[in-house]
Amino acid sequence: MFPQIRWRIAISYFILVTVVMGGLTAYLSRPGCLGDAGCVREAVSTAAILLLLGTAIVAFPVAARTTRPVRQLSQVIQRIAAGEWEARILPQTRDEMGALILAFNDMIDQLRLQHLALLEENGQFNTVLNYMVDGVLITDSEGNVRLINPAATKLFDLSEETALSRSFAEVVRHHQLIDLWQQCQSEGKEVTAAVEIGRELFLQAIITPFEEGWAKGYLVILQDLTTVRHLQTVRRDFISNISHELRTPLASLRVVIETLQDGAKDDPETAAHFLDRAANEVDVLTQMVEELLELSRIESGQVPLRLQATAVADLLLKPLDRLKPQAERAKIELILDLPAALPKVLADPERIHQIVTNLLHNAIKFTPDGGKITLQAHKAEGESAVAISVHDTGIGIPKEDAGRIFERFYKSDRARTRGRGGTGLGLAISRHIVQAHNGHIWVKSKEHKGSSFYFTLPIATPDDR
Ligand SMILES: Nc1ncnc2c1ncn2[C@@H]1O[C@H](COP(=O)(O)OP(=O)(O)O)[C@@H](O)[C@H]1O
Ligand SMILES: [Mg+2]
Repeated sequence: MFPQIRWRIAISYFILVTVVMGGLTAYLSRPGCLGDAGCVREAVSTAAILLLLGTAIVAFPVAARTTRPVRQLSQVIQRIAAGEWEARILPQTRDEMGALILAFNDMIDQLRLQHLALLEENGQFNTVLNYMVDGVLITDSEGNVRLINPAATKLFDLSEETALSRSFAEVVRHHQLIDLWQQCQSEGKEVTAAVEIGRELFLQAIITPFEEGWAKGYLVILQDLTTVRHLQTVRRDFISNISHELRTPLASLRVVIETLQDGAKDDPETAAHFLDRAANEVDVLTQMVEELLELSRIESGQVPLRLQATAVADLLLKPLDRLKPQAERAKIELILDLPAALPKVLADPERIHQIVTNLLHNAIKFTPDGGKITLQAHKAEGESAVAISVHDTGIGIPKEDAGRIFERFYKSDRARTRGRGGTGLGLAISRHIVQAHNGHIWVKSKEHKGSSFYFTLPIATPDDR
């Protein structure tokens, strides 16, 4: 083991003093020197000079040896402060300096572990905040925004930097939310309210006061309830629609039966006519119930798709044949435009027949006599899908209806007033089936010019059988 610094200095001095004192004694013990004042002065002053020189010679390397690691240490501290956590010095000696450096390295190792743990914790916290669908805001007790997550900045359409320099009121710009915050501040307990922002956004706001060691303030959580609200509206509309749709054929049936009861039944010809009408209304009701059942089965995922690689022609020819007589009756030209080399698609043929039938049926229904309907297919979506389309030269769809015709029961006013039978469920069912195939369905239409319905199906890969 190396001598410790203080021992090194003590031993060096001991040797130095012994040597100088020894020299001095030897000098003084020369014959006649002690009696000679000049000799004694010379001996003492030489000894003093030697001691001084010796001290300098001993002190200099000791000082240099001691300060070098201190300088290195301060450089390493600067590097660590700049984030270079790997920076270390190796102890060169086993003295106090060496011990200090070992302790320093240990401390940095510990600090680094704590730093990493903190970083991880902070990272997890940020991940939660960043990916949360709910908006989160923290304000201090004066109402200045101290934290805001991306969901909240999106809700209020401003950047994080802008929000952080502002008050809660300036950030949310909504009187109900501001009132709620003030209520929470005055009552000192959690408050909750449903808030409508603009015409499209429904939020559930929860504001909670908190007091932690580090601060005091309010936690604001904003949950987007728009989808839930939309579902509630859809359900309400659905029930009112279904009641309405059932009422019409039922009312007709009632009229027919009353007319029969009032005497029409006694005239065979009239009776037959009214019974025909009754049968028609029952057909409409039956179809509606069947389509409703179908829709509900599809929506609840009870209709498993039997997907198989299928030639596009096999998806189109059957429905086309089935609807040909109907088109002929209406003097509508029905054209199939199918490129020769189309790849196979991954589809459940039965289900796709259902869609094509509905699209062709609609096209015939909404195209005046003498019109033209074209059934087409082509590659789409960067060659990864095939688009099947039905073009007609019919009445077209008003712009305001085009976005809604895929909703259950939706029929344009004109379709209603013209009394073209139908439940308004066909396109809703078609959309579900297309989506289950990972495809899209959409419409392009010009009023009085005609409509084009498109849907895509993924091209089958060699693995699909
Ligand atoms: N080819 C078309 N031309 C014009 N309007 C159409 C066409 N296809 C569908 N529509 C409109 O979309 C509505 C919904 O269609 P759909 O869901 O098939 O129900 P339905 O055929 O029972 O009326 C129709 O009532 C009609 O208003
Ligand atoms: Mg239809």
